[in-house]
Amino acid sequence: MNSKSSKPKHIIIIMDGNGRWAEQNGLTRSAGHKAGVKVLRNLIEHAVHLELKTLTVYAFSRENWQRPKKEVELLLDLFISSLESEVKDLHENNIKLNFIGETDKFSEKLKKSMSKSESLTSNNSKLTLNVALNYSGRWDVYKALLSIIDDMTAKKITKNDVNEELINTKLSLADYDEPDLLIRTGGEKRLSNYLLWQIAYTELYFTNTLWPDFNTDQFDLALDWYTKRQRRFGKTSEQIEKNKNA
Ligand code: IPE
Ligand code: IPE
Ligand code: MG
Repeated sequence: MNSKSSKPKHIIIIMDGNGRWAEQNGLTRSAGHKAGVKVLRNLIEHAVHLELKTLTVYAFSRENWQRPKKEVELLLDLFISSLESEVKDLHENNIKLNFIGETDKFSEKLKKSMSKSESLTSNNSKLTLNVALNYSGRWDVYKALLSIIDDMTAKKITKNDVNEELINTKLSLADYDEPDLLIRTGGEKRLSNYLLWQIAYTELYFTNTLWPDFNTDQFDLALDWYTKRQRRFGKTSEQIEKNKNA
């Protein structure tokens, strides 16, 4: 019998398929993105109910700037309006909001909304919702590298101090458990430059369901799938079984 993984501490989600969902339903892409926000809202509620600790969702990649200007503007406006309408509720539900990604590029209005929501919710402890905005996994590693070079130049550290643990501390999400489960909706089996370093041992779950159709039942299916995985981290099944019974 396989040892089973327990409830994931940290789930990361690539919320993909809003555009295709809109097209299939004869709606604008904008309507697809709006429907996507609603799904996220429901899932957060569900995650609280399930007592999950950390959710990290991909809302906008660095590559997404290449979309038509109108769609980019629409997405950025949607982030502002969603933050404004949802943050009070998140706070009341003891949810901590945290953004990862290069935020310098955003408008003052969006940046202000983001920092206000972060500081309002900073002491909350039920669930942490990390939102990746203008994020890319390679940028994350690059940023960590620059920080290490800075520390070396300032003689705070030497080459001997540079190891995987130090790199971990310089990355986004350094303060959180390593992701246990990645869910990607929308049918593509790729990572699209999401948390590359951090997902070294993450279990990968892909579903064809488009993000606006992804509901709590389907989320539960992903969790069930996860609990059936045997996480070996390089060891043999036998070793894992032995440890479990020890
Ligand atoms: C994901 O849905 C949302 C963002 C990338 C912001 P898409 O907009 O990528 O939807 P598809 O892939 O075109 O269906
Ligand atoms: C990934 O989705 C980014 C987000 C979900 C925010 P994309 O739809 O942009 O990914 P690609 O470009 O198809 O790989
Ligand atoms: Mg897409």
